[in-house]
Amino acid sequence: MSAQVILNPPRASNASKPAPSILIAPMSLDDIPAVMAIERASFPRPWPERAYRYELTENPQAYFVVARAHERPTAQMMPRPGWQRLAQRFGLQRRDSAQFTPYVVVGFAGMWMHVDEAHIATIATHPDWRRRGVGQRILINLLREAQRRHARVVTLEVRVSNFAAQQLYRKYGFEEVGRRKAYYQDNREDALLMTIVHFDTPEYRAQLDELERRLRPAE
Ligand SMILES: CC(C)(COP(=O)(O)OP(=O)(O)OC[C@H]1O[C@@H](n2cnc3c(N)ncnc32)[C@H](O)[C@@H]1OP(=O)(O)O)[C@@H](O)C(=O)NCCC(=O)NCCS
Repeated sequence: MSAQVILNPPRASNASKPAPSILIAPMSLDDIPAVMAIERASFPRPWPERAYRYELTENPQAYFVVARAHERPTAQMMPRPGWQRLAQRFGLQRRDSAQFTPYVVVGFAGMWMHVDEAHIATIATHPDWRRRGVGQRILINLLREAQRRHARVVTLEVRVSNFAAQQLYRKYGFEEVGRRKAYYQDNREDALLMTIVHFDTPEYRAQLDELERRLRPAE
């Protein structure tokens, strides 16, 4: 199923419709137009489209995902029960019924693995979807993948002025460990270097479990 580039969230006019559910899925080439729309709305110096093509097709160290807002499935949207049973039996789709419903891409992120370090290269939520837990869901997915790949540390850079992103990262245990002078070319702003220092510990795993448990269902 390819992504639509319609990015408007449910508004008052369609408030009677069921709320969407958020699913994090691997980014595909079909997602790139929607990702580029969010990229341009989120960053002063957007990555070019070819950068995403490269990450998805040529960089084995890359792990890129999108957040999809799925309509909650209605009876008509669901595949016939027989088909779903067969699909499950042969592992064709996950059980999650949201897989089968139309969706819009509302956020994305990318991470690179270098030996035992996971580096979060980019993350963004569409402006119309912010403060609804999308960024947290994406970040949790990246951190779980970093755990799965036995990362010992997770790093990222963030603009000193980007308070919203810093708050998100601090909530998930990132600490400031350094500063890169004039890191951003557009305005020569400094970057904070942030890491989760004790990522590979039972304490952090418990902290992440708890944060994930507390995350309310998307509104
Ligand atoms: C940073 C960003 C990805 C957060 O996405 P989001 O979907 O709004 O995040 P969530 O709704 O999951 O918020 C998670 C936490 O982030 C923090 N946060 C997010 N936006 C915030 C804001 N405007 N002010 C203060 N804290 C904020 C809060 O701690 C929030 O937790 P809370 O809701 O319990 O207070 C989003 O603001 C964005 O896309 N920004 C532009 C791109 C960008 O700067 N990316 C980071 C590059 S380093």
